[in-house]
Amino acid sequence: MNTLHGSQTPIVGRRTALGLIAIGLSALALPARARNITVPQVDALTLQVLIDNATFGPFLSDVSLPGVSVVRHTGDAGKPVMSRAALHAEFGLSILATSQMDRTTAKVIVDFGYTPEAVRNNLSLLGIDVSDVDAAVLSHGHLDHYGGFSGFYRENPSRRIPLYVGGEETFCERLAMIGTPPPLMGSLDREALARAGFDVRIASTPQIIKGQAFTSGTIPLSSFERAAIPTQMRPGKGCNLAGLAPAKRDVTQLPDDGEHELATCYAVKGLGLVVIASCSHRGVINSVRQAQKISGIDNVHAVIGGFHLVRPRTEEEARRTVAEFAAIDPAYIIPMHCTGDTFISAAMRVMPQKIIRSYIGTEFVFKA
Ligand SMILES: [Fe+2]
Repeated sequence: MNTLHGSQTPIVGRRTALGLIAIGLSALALPARARNITVPQVDALTLQVLIDNATFGPFLSDVSLPGVSVVRHTGDAGKPVMSRAALHAEFGLSILATSQMDRTTAKVIVDFGYTPEAVRNNLSLLGIDVSDVDAAVLSHGHLDHYGGFSGFYRENPSRRIPLYVGGEETFCERLAMIGTPPPLMGSLDREALARAGFDVRIASTPQIIKGQAFTSGTIPLSSFERAAIPTQMRPGKGCNLAGLAPAKRDVTQLPDDGEHELATCYAVKGLGLVVIASCSHRGVINSVRQAQKISGIDNVHAVIGGFHLVRPRTEEEARRTVAEFAAIDPAYIIPMHCTGDTFISAAMRVMPQKIIRSYIGTEFVFKA
């Protein structure tokens, strides 16, 4: 029995002390008509890892594969390798997505990492200026995805930047169900976001971002995957009750169900979908299925991100996810962050040609 499973932890009722709440089109088609949005198709997409759990020294080679080039950056831009400055790894995620369509470039920050110190260090060493970023997406309201936000802080911003989140519950205070008592995870500072020039846009339905990316909207639990999230949230603390689902307004604390989690997606011309799954608390397969459904594009070129196939999920679920991926048949799977060793080792055994390992600084350039 796994003690981290949120549903196994008592929920504190607002009304009663013990109240509980149970709560085919081809990738080559242009443009694809979605069920509810028309998805743009970009000419090229570069994803650069700013924050992740893993770094590597200067020993990996760049590699060019069909539909993706992998460019490794290991330290201080322009300086000899093994200089005194090093990229910092931590248990968090941040990716810079730069896409081109015709002659227009769109830059989107996907998640903000865990600590501002690591973000500042890595942005500096990688030589990345975020002043020209067009938009940001926060996949969900967990500290390891928003905690580094102030590392992207812009003093006296001259323009506003839209920040997409999947629901008001992004801002609810949270507890991490990983100890006794469970440690407080806190909540994202809305006022700091505003001061830094970010305009929060709550989007539970799929959205087009800067004409080039799209978000998943609420991810349905359409496969064998369940919502499995090691946190609980406190409605009304940090978030407005009126913005929450009615069933969540009358309790003071309840297990997260990931209703607000977003995947960030692209359709790359001639290749297919690239799905950034961030933490996959609604399930990575569910995330990919949702991207396929709303885009009308079946072909999946790459899935990248944290797949969270560790507690509260089981090793059996991790192995089953490998089998589900084999059916979807993406060209590439890039596991990061919270994916876990069981999935990675099984996927490396079953479909080694699809797996690309990711490290901080790595750029993935997707182009037909
Ligand atoms: Fe995470």
